[in-house]
Amino acid sequence: MKILAVETSCDETAIALIEAKGGLKKPEFKILKERVASQIETHRPWGGVVPTLAKREHAKNLPLLLRQILGGPKQKIDLLAVTIGPGLDPCLWSGIVFAKEIHKKYLPKARIVGTNHLEGHLYSFFLEKKTVISNFQFSISKKIFPAVQLLVSGGHTVLVLMKSVKERKKLGETRDDAVGETFDKVARMLKSPYPGGPEIEKLAKKGNSEAVNFPRPMINSKNYDFSFSGLKTAVLYYLKKSKKIKKTDVAASFQKAATDVLIHKTVRAAKEFKAKTIILSGGVAANKFLRRELSAASRKMRIKFLSAPIKYQTDNAVMIAIAAYVNHINGKKHKLASQPNLNL
Ligand code: KG4
Ligand code: ZN
Repeated sequence: MKILAVETSCDETAIALIEAKGGLKKPEFKILKERVASQIETHRPWGGVVPTLAKREHAKNLPLLLRQILGGPKQKIDLLAVTIGPGLDPCLWSGIVFAKEIHKKYLPKARIVGTNHLEGHLYSFFLEKKTVISNFQFSISKKIFPAVQLLVSGGHTVLVLMKSVKERKKLGETRDDAVGETFDKVARMLKSPYPGGPEIEKLAKKGNSEAVNFPRPMINSKNYDFSFSGLKTAVLYYLKKSKKIKKTDVAASFQKAATDVLIHKTVRAAKEFKAKTIILSGGVAANKFLRRELSAASRKMRIKFLSAPIKYQTDNAVMIAIAAYVNHINGKKHKLASQPNLNL
């Protein structure tokens, strides 16, 4: 079936057209067309995402992207998916209203469905190249379950046990700040431009990760929850009290502290639940240091490591289309209304 997906939850406007088949036993996906319009330049002067500006940009970009995706010969679309949350309310609405409009005007025969943005990240592992088999572009051919998935984004930090594509259980999540948010805040403290995550990674590459011994909050707690606000405060105090600061060392030491906690808990969960695979997803999964460390930890345990290529970690519509397919097969439905605080 052909799926058209619209994503506008935060500061990326994205539309994708994919073909999906195989059901949940042997899901296979082919990306037909995809576009992402980034708003980085719009928000940079403000040091973060401004919701009203983001909404305006979405409204401007959506028709342009749609023309690029659907221009040309007429396509038969079976499913029209749009992100309903979590995200910024005005941004979510611009996507939903747009999807409803194109449904009415151009695709009345398609089924229109709401999609959980976090399920988009959760199922993005289908885009991992190593799992591909033959003719269709992406598909999971190996036995990967049970799997433990670490989902790390700007708003969420969640550890999930996946017993199958269908069954999952949340093992733990952050009690305060998300790890991506912490990267962004530390970057701001170091006077780096928005978005902060990639800037920290760049600085950290040139720094010494042992230079400052930042705390690793909750690393030894018995549960699978996280906490990052203490680490953020520790960086703030360090910057306030130190006379000579090497930004590269602070970034590297912070990145190491945050990564240590994430990896420690993921590995412990993988051991406890006898996982065959560790999966990494979400915007922070674009961080090469985290990818390398978690992949090395998986190798050490002799289990598989799955993570989509970097371009599918940050917000995109391909992952939304994939989540919509999984939910379609599962018969799971979301209401077509903005849910800014939707969770997994
Ligand atoms: O998934 P995403 O694009 O949006 C949300 O759903 O939140 O994630 C955005 C987050 C931001 O906090 C951003 O700083 C972080 O992902 N991020 C990174 C990197 N690239 C993006 N964090 C660390 N290193 C990166 N390379
Ligand atoms: Zn996201």
